[in-house]
Amino acid sequence: MTEPAVQAPSWRIVVGVTGGIAAYKAVSVIRSLVLLGHHVDVIATESALRFVGAPTLEAISRNPIRTDLYENVDTVQHVSIGQSADVIAVVPATANTIAKLAAGMADDLLTNSILASRSPVVVAPAMHTEMWQHPATQANASRLDERGVTLVGPDSGRLTGNDEGPGRLAETDEIVNAILAAARRGVRERQDAERARDLVGQDILVTAGGTREPIDPVRFLGNRSSGRQGVAVAARAAERGAEVTLVAANIEVQPPENVNVIRVSSAQQMANACAELAPRHSMIVMAAAVADFRPEHEQAGKIKKESTGDDLTLTFVKNPDILRSLVEVRSQDQLIVGFAAETEEDEAARLDLARAKIARKGCDYLVLNRVGWNHGFGREETEIQILNLAGEVVSEAVGDKLSVADVILDLANLDVANRD
Ligand code: CTP
Repeated sequence: MTEPAVQAPSWRIVVGVTGGIAAYKAVSVIRSLVLLGHHVDVIATESALRFVGAPTLEAISRNPIRTDLYENVDTVQHVSIGQSADVIAVVPATANTIAKLAAGMADDLLTNSILASRSPVVVAPAMHTEMWQHPATQANASRLDERGVTLVGPDSGRLTGNDEGPGRLAETDEIVNAILAAARRGVRERQDAERARDLVGQDILVTAGGTREPIDPVRFLGNRSSGRQGVAVAARAAERGAEVTLVAANIEVQPPENVNVIRVSSAQQMANACAELAPRHSMIVMAAAVADFRPEHEQAGKIKKESTGDDLTLTFVKNPDILRSLVEVRSQDQLIVGFAAETEEDEAARLDLARAKIARKGCDYLVLNRVGWNHGFGREETEIQILNLAGEVVSEAVGDKLSVADVILDLANLDVANRD
């Protein structure tokens, strides 16, 4: 099995540690997050430091810990730490901290940071059963839940003394998973907000689907492209404010409603449509799988096997290379993205093919994805790498076709913005 080409993202995570006996367990949560490659800033309350030492938290988080609201005042850290975080977790959260968060109080660095931040918050309560079950704590926890805070645990089990019941800090893995899920959600929400209408003013031409090259009135030479990726690019581009024209060749999915759809079938029809439309567009994304060859002659009537004997020979002629033709006649400020669907299993060899292809085509970027019977075509999840004309991998993505579409559009939009 080959390693996935795309690394998991690394996030900025703030872990708040408050003063309970379970504070020592925060160490293993922090350690797991750091080992997964995330940047962890620890904010410990004064009372947390009575349970676990600052050197331990610093060594494990690999960062200086912060406690004092009045330290580094020049950097306005009570605002900046929380604002730059992808997620803030409180592990463990005492009844007192939960009450302060529910009331919106800010009397130390941790509660200030949470109040000043719009990042997702994860709270892992730990306390004695009576405190957890107290109506005040239950009401406070419900308020946090209603506000979208993720509560993890508490578990039921052995507590500090000989008592047992709900109040035990949730298991490390459960807390870590909740933190990562919240970070993922927060990052997606932030990106969605940033992307909201960032393509207003762009006219984008997208091709999608697979061409069919007629053999006779009932047969064609085709390919397995479903058109989903191109349609996803068109859909996201339109949602982000672009005027979109979709040249659709035999797509298996509904085109988005807010785009102008031009239906074609063969490569020649697609070539004609693109040649006419391209000059009016600031970006072109060529996601269609275009047949390189077509039968030299389309038979007027259905080919009958009585007339062919045991063998049938068809002669194919080359189709125009639409992408290359568009690159040849483009204006300087037009950005063109090509696609390469390759079946080569070895990643380095696949990248070499892609480098040769972008050099041949001359487009600005080439989106490379691996296809085969179990990869790419028609599947919801997809994995891509984007190369620039110099052959460097400048972006990568793994996910559903809409999120991959966003990554392609982000790069194209950034490039266009840098040209201005
Ligand atoms: N393309 C095109 N016209 C063609 C063939 C391909 O515009 N006749 C475009 C596709 O839409 C895609 C890119 O070129 O954006 C690469 O397509 P691909 O089929 O991978 O490239 P080919 O040049 O056909 O190379 P190969 O020999 O690997 O098929």
